[in-house]
Amino acid sequence: MQRILIIDDEPSIRELLKDFFTGKDFEAATATDGEAGLALLKEDKFDLLLLDLMMPGINGLDVLREINSEKLDIPTIVITARNDVPSAVEAMKLGAFDYKTKPFNLEEIHLSVKRALDVSKLQEENFRLRKELRKKFSTHKIVGNSLPVQEVIKFIEKIADTDSTVLVTGESGTGKELVAKTIHYNSSRARNPFVPLNCAAIPKDILESELFGHEKGAFTGAITTRIGRFELANNGTLFLDEIGELAPSLQVKLLRILQEKEFERVGGIKTIKVDVRIVAATNRDLEKAVKDGTFREDLYYRLNVIPLHLPPLRRMREDIPLLVEHFISEMSKRKKKETLTISNEALNCLVNYKWPGNVRELENLIERLIILKEGDTITPYDLPERFLENRPIPKVVTKAQLLSSEGVDMNLVLDEIENNMIIQALEMSKGVKSKAASLLGLNRTTLIEKMKKKSISSHVKTVE
Ligand SMILES: Nc1ncnc2c1ncn2[C@@H]1O[C@H](COP(=O)(O)OP(=O)(O)OP(=O)(O)O)[C@@H](O)[C@H]1O
Ligand SMILES: [Mg+2]
Repeated sequence: MQRILIIDDEPSIRELLKDFFTGKDFEAATATDGEAGLALLKEDKFDLLLLDLMMPGINGLDVLREINSEKLDIPTIVITARNDVPSAVEAMKLGAFDYKTKPFNLEEIHLSVKRALDVSKLQEENFRLRKELRKKFSTHKIVGNSLPVQEVIKFIEKIADTDSTVLVTGESGTGKELVAKTIHYNSSRARNPFVPLNCAAIPKDILESELFGHEKGAFTGAITTRIGRFELANNGTLFLDEIGELAPSLQVKLLRILQEKEFERVGGIKTIKVDVRIVAATNRDLEKAVKDGTFREDLYYRLNVIPLHLPPLRRMREDIPLLVEHFISEMSKRKKKETLTISNEALNCLVNYKWPGNVRELENLIERLIILKEGDTITPYDLPERFLENRPIPKVVTKAQLLSSEGVDMNLVLDEIENNMIIQALEMSKGVKSKAASLLGLNRTTLIEKMKKKSISSHVKTVE
C-alpha cells in the first residue's frame, strides 16, 4: 500500500484529504505544521507528500528547501491559495512535481498524485537499470594505457551508439568479444539482449536454424518451433564470432538479412522483420579470403562498414604490468585468495615474452599461478618452461658443464658461468650493485665493467 503524508495547518483540509485518500486505498498520515511534517519525513518512509504552502512557522517552501538539503527525495504536490501563484512557481523550482490552488477538486489532486507516483516509479526503475548496467559494464573493462589501446577505447566511444555494423579483427585472444560487449553496453541498445553466436562452433547443418530459427516440422527433429538468434537479438546486438568460418551457402543468406533486415524461419513462409545491430569478429584475414574465393566479397563489404583492428599483446608491452595487476586482483577476488605480488624479474620475463595467445594467454597464466602458487610472490621460477628463454639465468650453463665428446669452447663456457654468477648476484641483491659485487668478491667498478662488456644491464634491473 502506498503512503501519503499530508502537511496542512487547517484541520478541515487535513481530514478531507486523509479520508479521500484512505478511501482510494492509500495509507495517509497527517502533520499539523512544517516542523512536525519534516520530523515524520525523516523518520518514516512515504511515497508522496501533499504540502500546504502557507503555514505559520516553517512554511511550505521552507519544508521543500529542507527536503532538498536533506536529500529526502520525495515527490511533492503543493497546495496553495489562488492568489499566491508566485509561491507555487517557486515551489516548482524547488522540485515540487505539481501545484493545485484552493479550493481544489479532489479528483484533480488524485490524478496528479497518480502521475507523480508513476513518474517516480519510472525514475527509480531507470536509476536501478542504469546502476545495473554500470555494474555489468564494469565487469567488461578494457585495461590498457598504451597508445594502441587508448585509441581503441576512443574509437569505441565514438561508434558504440550508432547502428552501423562493426567488423572486429585481431589475433586470437586480443579481446574481440570483450570489445563487442563493450560496444553493446555503451549503446542505447544496452537494455536489450547481446546475443553471441560462434559461427565456427556450431555444425554447418544446424547453423541456419540457429541463426534464423525454424518452424515445427521443418526437418526431422524439429519438434517445436524455435526462435533463432536474429529474433532473440531483436532491438539488441548480434555478435557473429568467427565470421570467417561461415559456410558459403549461409554467407548468401546473411547478406540478404543484412541488406533487407528480414528473413524467414527455416521451413516457414512468414517474413520476419528485425532491428538488430551486427558486430562480427574474426581472426582470419578476410580480404585474403575474398581473394581466395572462400568469402563473398559483397558480404565482406557489408560487414566491414566500421573496421576495428585490435593490437596483439606484443604491440602493447607497456600494458603488461597493468594487465598482470588487473588479472591478479580480479582472480584473487574470484578465487577468494590472498592477492599475490610479482617480482620484477618475473614481470620482466612476462614483458619480454612473445605472447602468441595474447591477453587470453596472459589471463590463463595468472589464473594458473594463483591456483598453484604457495607463498606470496611470483618469481621467474614459477613460470612455465616457455618463459625459460626470458629467465635471467642462461640455461646453457648447466649443459656446458657436461663435457661432450666433441669438446667445448672453454672461453665460452667460462663466459657463461661468469654471466650466470653476475646475474644471480644481482638478483639476490635486488639490483644493488655494491652488494652484488661483494657477493662475488669483486669490487664495484670491476663488476660494472664486466656488466658493460657483457651488456647485462639490459637483462636485469639494477639500482644505484
Ligand atoms: N584490454 C583488455 N583488458 C582486460 N581484459 C582483456 C583485454 N583484452 C582481452 N581481455 C580478456 O582476455 C580474454 C580473451 O578476450 P576475448 O575472448 O575477448 O578475445 P578474442 O579476441 O575474442 O579471442 P578469440 O579470437 O580466441 O576468440 C577475455 O577474458 C577478456 O576479458
Ligand atoms: Mg572470441
